[in-house]
Amino acid sequence: MLEPEKDYEITRISPARDVRAQMWEEVREGLRQSPKRLPSKYFYDGRGSDLFESITHQPEYYPTNSEIEILEEHAKDLIETARPEELCELGSGSSRKTVLLIEAMHELGMGDRYVAFDVSEDAIRGAADALTVDHPWLEVKGVVGDFEGQLEDIPRGGRRLVAFLGSTIGNLDPEARAAFLGHVRGMLHDGDRLLLGTDLVKPPEVLEPAYDDARGVTAEFNRNVLRVINRELGADFPAEDFEHVARWVPEKSRVEMHLRCPRDLSVHFAERNFEVPIAAGEEIHTEISSKFTRETVERECGAAGLEIERWETDAKGWFALSLLRAA
Ligand code: SAH
Ligand code: TRP
Repeated sequence: MLEPEKDYEITRISPARDVRAQMWEEVREGLRQSPKRLPSKYFYDGRGSDLFESITHQPEYYPTNSEIEILEEHAKDLIETARPEELCELGSGSSRKTVLLIEAMHELGMGDRYVAFDVSEDAIRGAADALTVDHPWLEVKGVVGDFEGQLEDIPRGGRRLVAFLGSTIGNLDPEARAAFLGHVRGMLHDGDRLLLGTDLVKPPEVLEPAYDDARGVTAEFNRNVLRVINRELGADFPAEDFEHVARWVPEKSRVEMHLRCPRDLSVHFAERNFEVPIAAGEEIHTEISSKFTRETVERECGAAGLEIERWETDAKGWFALSLLRAA
């Protein structure tokens, strides 16, 4: 059977270095630190992207619904303020919420161009397939790359609205956030805007279950990073045996995620001649999810030369969308 003709194009920004070589260096470096850590961008292979999408449907995981509520209320007026000719989304994933912005742009007669930028080609393909079927007028361009360094190379097609949703910014530590916001500032020409989704500080009774759902989907997602490393680097982590841990750390205003080692282990990287001992009960740090206030968003964005033009939250005040412009 013939493949149906695709109405979109996906390009890959060529990485500065071989992807697997870079992964190996980052993983080795992280496992040599104390406490051990693993870089979180490797959660998202095809399976990881599907697991993440499944997290967003869990009853405990409120951020997606809160952000959808804000977009349902405000997509149109945010688009009227930004007047974009194209929407460029970083870490676009399934693009499920983005549809609300794309439809608002179309209804208001603005651009019909959407650039989806993500490390996961599978995620872009899944999103683009669905989008182009339901929105035949939409011009979709997929770009595979790393948002921590390849933003300048994203093709540009007129006045831009850059979207960074899902509080993905909270998965970067403060230094990485500052660097990232500086790079985004560099992508903005006169009149361009950034639409930034940030999860807000709230009681631990709400935060911790959001990162440790009863069905164990988040736990599976966390363990997926070990599976990716086993596959890509020939390691032998007993992934299923690691325990998922999610903890609210108030001093740092973030939820921290770990994988707890079940027993004394020596993990072997077959193709690399590398062995790493891990003790029973030892935790490998895998991810942070920082929580913000209006003040911290204002301060961090301000330091990067971005000012808040609009600040919208859901009715509970759990999540915020900020429309930002060059100060
Ligand atoms: N925007 C979606 C998905 C958020 S999950 C939402 O709000 O639901 C984070 C997304 O960022 C995933 O799709 C993941 O593949 C992507 N991602 C993670 N690290 C990345 C990086 N360094 N560069 C580009 N994309 C990245
Ligand atoms: N940006 C999402 C968040 O911080 C990412 C995320 C949700 C996540 N659940 C997770 C990352 C579990 C790692 C593990 O809410």
